[in-house]
Amino acid sequence: MRLRGSGQFLIGSPQAGQRRQVCSLPNQPLLVHTPAKLNLFLEILGQRDDGFHELETLMMTVSLYDTLVFTEKRPHKNSTHTEETSEEVSLRCFDAGYSGSCHRNAGSALRQNATEGATGITEVPDGRDNLAVRAAELLRSKTGCRRGIHIDLYKRIPAAAGLAGGSSDAAAVLFALNRIWQLGLSRDELQSFASEIGSDVSFFLNPQSAAICRGRGEIIEPLALPNRLHFVIAKPPSGLSTADVFRHCRLQDRSPGVGSLVDSLRRGDLRTAGQRLLNSLQAPAEELNPDVGRLKANFASHNTIGHLMSGSGTAYFGVCRHRCEARKAAARLRASMKHSDQVFVVANPP
Ligand code: C5P
Repeated sequence: MRLRGSGQFLIGSPQAGQRRQVCSLPNQPLLVHTPAKLNLFLEILGQRDDGFHELETLMMTVSLYDTLVFTEKRPHKNSTHTEETSEEVSLRCFDAGYSGSCHRNAGSALRQNATEGATGITEVPDGRDNLAVRAAELLRSKTGCRRGIHIDLYKRIPAAAGLAGGSSDAAAVLFALNRIWQLGLSRDELQSFASEIGSDVSFFLNPQSAAICRGRGEIIEPLALPNRLHFVIAKPPSGLSTADVFRHCRLQDRSPGVGSLVDSLRRGDLRTAGQRLLNSLQAPAEELNPDVGRLKANFASHNTIGHLMSGSGTAYFGVCRHRCEARKAAARLRASMKHSDQVFVVANPP
């Protein structure tokens, strides 16, 4: 199978040899790999009247992917329920586990390996509470489109981790259905719908792997960085609710801002970048969940350039000089952590 990059997404068809353009695939399933993100910087600037927090954050996608397979519902010829069946949005969620990188040849192999029923990812809702379904329903209500879709969602990005797996899935749905349903929506229109679904969703529709995000997180300034960065990520079995963590955060004195981190990343000065990592949500997360402090202590004893919790946690990451160092750090973390912790070696896409 061939996969093509399109912004943050890798797209293709699960049928081997399928290389046609996505727009001319009316009857074929479409497969989209969509990435997790890390926050290398997240500062809370204030509380807003709408209950959200004003923030400045540097987000970066990394090579840990969920996979969505979209199948158009066709009206069944002799069915009396033709309209009802073809107009529905439905979703099945599978635990696809983690392979160390994206399953580039997903499709039949992916189906065999996946476990139906979201084993080990009990936090991922299957029905209309899932952000992927909400994204499809929002597109239908905004555009008046009455077409249906079935989505098989293969989860690898841990939930309740600060890695934005649900937001990434929702962005992939907006991107894919705009093509499959031939809605002709611009990126700006998709991003404005995205911000109605969640604060992180718009980021995944911007074409760069990294961006500075402001407002609630939905105002995106794409960021071109010269070098590939390598990370090790650890996720404890427990998660945290984003709303809970924001509720417990206290405003701190302002830092010098994201600028000096961006400058050092642009210069390729990883040592300085490692000292500029910041997350205002980490202190409240540590208070709410002892696993975060445990990971922080564990990362502090390893040889990474810098380490930080991502988003509202509980995933924790270390910045490494190269992939080999990330793999060594991962091996040490696995040896020293609980069996149920998950450890990933990832990089930001080139
Ligand atoms: O936007 P999203 O649904 O991801 O946000 C989840 C919750 O996190 C919000 O309901 C809000 O309580 C909190 N939040 C916030 N400020 C932000 C983003 C999220 O207070 N900028």
